[in-house]
Amino acid sequence: MPERQRISAEAPGAYTLADFAAEVRAGLGKPGQKELPSKYLYDEVGAALFEVICALPEYGLARAGERLLERHAPEMVERLAVPVVVAELGSGSGKKTRWLLEALSRRQAVTYCPIDISRAALARCRQELGQIDSVSLVGFERAYLDGLLEVAARRREGERLLVLFLGSTIGNFDRPAGIEFLREVRRILAPGDALLLGTDLEKPVPDLLLAYDDPLGVTAAFNLNLLARINREFDADFNLARFRHQVRWDERERRIEMHLVSTADQSVTIPKADLTVRLRSGETIWTESCHKYNLEEVAPMAIRSGYRCDAQWVDQEWPFAQSLFMAL
Ligand code: AVJ
Repeated sequence: MPERQRISAEAPGAYTLADFAAEVRAGLGKPGQKELPSKYLYDEVGAALFEVICALPEYGLARAGERLLERHAPEMVERLAVPVVVAELGSGSGKKTRWLLEALSRRQAVTYCPIDISRAALARCRQELGQIDSVSLVGFERAYLDGLLEVAARRREGERLLVLFLGSTIGNFDRPAGIEFLREVRRILAPGDALLLGTDLEKPVPDLLLAYDDPLGVTAAFNLNLLARINREFDADFNLARFRHQVRWDERERRIEMHLVSTADQSVTIPKADLTVRLRSGETIWTESCHKYNLEEVAPMAIRSGYRCDAQWVDQEWPFAQSLFMAL
């Protein structure tokens, strides 16, 4: 990776409006439980709201994940062979990554490749991390695996890859799909490459419900923005006053679910996605799942997907783990 401080890969964007339309049609046109993919929560407004969520006292995840990096980045980095190229999946603002990049850059010049489908998030990340000495940033506006394939294709002889998947975004997958995703990442890696994986751990249900249904209503706005975004991008006529943010804990799946409840019998037209949707009062659109883990299940996830779990760091204040997986 020769270029220094190059601003961005020639990204055509992670998905097209046609892809988004197809997923809206598939998710809202379904018989039974309607759903929308959580990745579409992060347009410019959504990415900004997510940053506010991370500052809320009830949303302990963000601070726990960052605290672990702030405290342990030097130890984490010592376990890696150099030189290493860093690829981050879903970089978001990149704030917590600073600790790792600074620790690494004391040992070597670092190439840092944030991969995010949100252009707004990449721009914030560039602001936050674009100016660290000895770190060159190359952003990829791509889906995770597409971006990672590109980063891997550009690596040079002898360079190791460190993949960061920090914020417990793995929790958006259900458990089998999470394993499958880790396997797909592994297929792109070489033995000796590493993955640093953040997982939010199980904790008292009332704490989790508050984390996803904060009294200020920021998470509600974040969730409702998905409908507002569909209004903006597809000329749809969702009346946001007729939907309510709802959070559930599914005990069997050990996950938080976010839904949007229709508070009336209604019909919504989405012209540019060529769709009319009828919703009954009380019916919901399922917009996100956030699975929670216990510490003991994380190392076996590594083994099942082609890694060895080399080390784990756990936050005591808000149970959360960062686990370092080594590709076998
Ligand atoms: C960015 C996927 C880790 O699951 O906690 C925050 C997203 N949703 N509040 C999470 C989210 C509602 C977040 N992740």
